[in-house]
Amino acid sequence: MICDEQYKRIMSLEIEINGKTFESPLMNAAGILGTTASSLKRLADNGSGAVVTKTISHKPKEGNKGPNLIETNYGALNSMGLPNPGAKNYLDELKSLKPLNKPVICSVFGETPRDVKKVGRLLKEYVDIFELNLSCPNIEGEVISSDPEIVKKYVEEFAHITNKPIWVKLSPSSDNIVNVSLAASEAGADSLVLINTLKGMLIDIESGRPILGNKTGGLSGEAIHPIAIEIIYQVYKKIDIPIIGVGGVSDNEKAIEMVMAGAKALQIGTALKDDIGIFKRINKGIKSYLQEKNIDLMDIVGLSHKY
Ligand SMILES: Cc1cc2nc3c(=O)[nH]c(=O)nc-3n(C[C@H](O)[C@H](O)[C@H](O)COP(=O)(O)O)c2cc1C
Repeated sequence: MICDEQYKRIMSLEIEINGKTFESPLMNAAGILGTTASSLKRLADNGSGAVVTKTISHKPKEGNKGPNLIETNYGALNSMGLPNPGAKNYLDELKSLKPLNKPVICSVFGETPRDVKKVGRLLKEYVDIFELNLSCPNIEGEVISSDPEIVKKYVEEFAHITNKPIWVKLSPSSDNIVNVSLAASEAGADSLVLINTLKGMLIDIESGRPILGNKTGGLSGEAIHPIAIEIIYQVYKKIDIPIIGVGGVSDNEKAIEMVMAGAKALQIGTALKDDIGIFKRINKGIKSYLQEKNIDLMDIVGLSHKY
């Protein structure tokens, strides 16, 4: 027999991360339906436990020339190039989000630590959590998160301008993502967001021409799910701060699997693009699973490490 208290605990998917309360562990991934305040509000109204903005840079960015998104039956390949209105122009969107009653996570990027600090200073008043997107190239063209020393510098410098929690989002392309995660954590990251897209390319066989305008892009969706699971599993083993899992979550089974690998919360990108109902559906699926097993969400975080 499950007592009332226990039933309530199972049916509530509420979690705490870095002192913030999330009424559900699911949220959108940066870059998906997060450009305007109205699209973020729509996410919140449809069961997202928090909202994550598009990655914002100091100066406006136009993004890459098209085609910049290809959908396949195994996932998507995009080369958006972080189009965004720039921090100053984004302020009004952030201001109009208040009061949302759900954590507002602002994804930020800079080609140098100084650059991203400028974004942080402009936006910090209206943000609950920052997500430092270190999966992009720095001014030397090197992917920031491929080098633990550079990651350390970004995080340490960013921590000087804010006392809001800092989440650090890493690229799976790094040779040693565990070391990079460790560097981020030692430098003051409050949580890790794992993973961003993997490099990919597709070619039109009629002409031989690369399909994306930018030739190469980032692969996301179901194809990257096992890669995300393995990375989360390895990082959870070595590092104590919370992990926000992202990569190919499209149903409750994949969500539960990622939690068992070690993620405390999850972000959904590709599967959310054309399916705003996905949060409610996965939340419901997770609840039925927990109810059937008579356990609560925290019981399954990192469960696979028992074996
Ligand atoms: C169209 C598109 C745009 C994206 N834009 C961003 C972005 O602005 N910032 C970022 O950190 N990640 C961005 N991403 C990566 C996602 O946030 C996420 O890490 C990745 O897609 C893996 O999750 P998924 O398999 O659920 O899509 C983008 C992904 C897609 C498909």
